[in-house]
Amino acid sequence: MAKAKRQYICQNCGSATYRWQGQCADCGEWNTLVEEAGETVFSAKHDLSKGGRTIALETLNADSKMPERMLCGIAEFDRALGGGFVAGSATLIGGDPGIGKSTLLLQAAGRLAQAGKSVVYISGEEATAQVRLRAQRLGLGNAPVALASATSVRDILATLDRQTADFVVIDSIQTMHSDLIDSAPGTVSQVRASAQELIRYAKDSDAAIVLVGHVTKDGTIAGPRVLEHMVDTVLAFEGERSHQYRILRAVKNRFGGTDEIGVFAMGEEGLGEVSNPSSLFLTDRSRDVPGSVVFPALEGTRPVLVEVQALTVRLASGATPRRAVVGWDSGRLAMVLAVLEARCGLQMGAAEVYLNIAGGYRLTDPAADMAVAAALISAFSERPVPADAIVFGELSLSGEVRQVSHDGLRLREAAKLGFSSGWGPKGMKPVGGISVTGFERLGELVDLMLGRD
Ligand code: TYD
Ligand code: MG
Repeated sequence: MAKAKRQYICQNCGSATYRWQGQCADCGEWNTLVEEAGETVFSAKHDLSKGGRTIALETLNADSKMPERMLCGIAEFDRALGGGFVAGSATLIGGDPGIGKSTLLLQAAGRLAQAGKSVVYISGEEATAQVRLRAQRLGLGNAPVALASATSVRDILATLDRQTADFVVIDSIQTMHSDLIDSAPGTVSQVRASAQELIRYAKDSDAAIVLVGHVTKDGTIAGPRVLEHMVDTVLAFEGERSHQYRILRAVKNRFGGTDEIGVFAMGEEGLGEVSNPSSLFLTDRSRDVPGSVVFPALEGTRPVLVEVQALTVRLASGATPRRAVVGWDSGRLAMVLAVLEARCGLQMGAAEVYLNIAGGYRLTDPAADMAVAAALISAFSERPVPADAIVFGELSLSGEVRQVSHDGLRLREAAKLGFSSGWGPKGMKPVGGISVTGFERLGELVDLMLGRD
C-alpha cells in the first residue's frame, strides 16, 4: 500500500530525510532542511504476472536524423550551445542575480522572433511593462515576441497548448508554481515539479525551452542541483557585476561539447558580443609593473589572454599573513606558494599575498600555475616580467613544470596580439614568430627572474 510521509528536503542539494536536523547529512550545509509534502512511498516489488509492455530494443547503427537546430543569431550564444538551440530540448541558464540572464534571453528571443520563429517569453519576476521597456531599450520593441507575466505552470501550459511555439523562455524557474505540489514556490519539490512539467511540454511539442535559474552563494543553481539532471543543457552565466564582461559557459550539453564559451560585454544597449576576448581583457594592462603577468588561458579550443596580478607584502614576524584571491582557486594558490617556499627557497610564508585575475575573469585552466608563480616571484622580488612575454604551465608538488594542452594555439594567439616570447614547459615549438623558453623545473624560472645562476 502507498502511504504519504512528511519529509524534510535540503534546499541546497535536494536530499531527503524523515527527521529534522540542523545540518544536512549529505552536503553539510546548515539550516537548509525544510519540511515539504511527502512523496508517496511504495514498498512493493514489481509483479510481472500482471503484465508489462515489451520494449522494442534497437541497434546502434540504425539511421537517425540529427536534431534540428535553431540559431539565435547571437554568435557567442550559439557557440556556447554548440551550434544553436535544439528543438524539443530543455536548457537551464544559471547565474547570479543581476548578471544579465533576462537581458541575454530577451535579446535571443527577439532575434529568433525577427527571424520568423514563434517565440513565447514568460516572466515570473517582472511585469510585462518592465520587459517591454527593456525590449525597447534593446532595440527589439518591434520583435514579434509573445509576452506574458505568469507563475502558474498550469496556466502557462494551457496557454502554450493553444498556440505552437518554437522557443519558450521561463524567467525564472524559482518563481514557478505547480498546483500538483503543495509546497511554496522556490522550494526544491516545487522547482522540480514545475521543471518536470515544462520539460515534458518541450519534449512533446518539439519547442526549445529555456529555464532561467538563480544561483546560490556557493555557485550551484539554486537549491535544486536536481534540475541539472533533468535538462539537456546547463549554461552558466558568469562575471563580476562591477565589470562589464560576461562569460557564458556550457557546464553540461547533451547535444555538443562543454568546452566552448561565449563572451559578452554589458553595455548601454544590452549584451554585446566580444569576438576577440584576448584584446579586451588586456586593454587596461599595466606594463612593467612587478606582479603583472599575461597568461594565455584556453577555453575549449579558444585561447583567451588574461592578466594575472599579484601583490605581496612582507610582514613583521609574528603576525598571521592574509591570503586573498579573486578569480582563481585559493587551494591552488596555497599549493603554488608552498612549492615556491619548499622547492625554490622563497620565503613566502611570512608575506601577505593578494592575487587577482583582471577583468573579473575566472580561471579554471591548470596551466595558470606557472603564470601565478611568475606573478608571485615578480611581486616578491619587485622585478617585472617582460611586458612582451606570456607565461603558462602546470606545476607539480615536486616543482616540475608539466606539459599542457594546445601550447601551439596559446603561442599563436599571443603572437597575433604582438607578444614576442613565451615561457612554458620544455619542448614547446616556436610558432608564429614567437620565441620560446622552456622550463623543466620552477626553480629555473626563479633563477631567471632573480638573475641567479
Ligand atoms: P538582468 O538581465 O535583469 O539580470 P538577471 O536577469 O540575470 O537578474 O540584468 C540586469 C543588469 O543589467 C542591470 O543591473 C542593468 C544592466 N543592464 C545594462 O547595463 N544595460 C542594458 O541594456 C540592460 C538591459 C541591462
Ligand atoms: Mg532576471
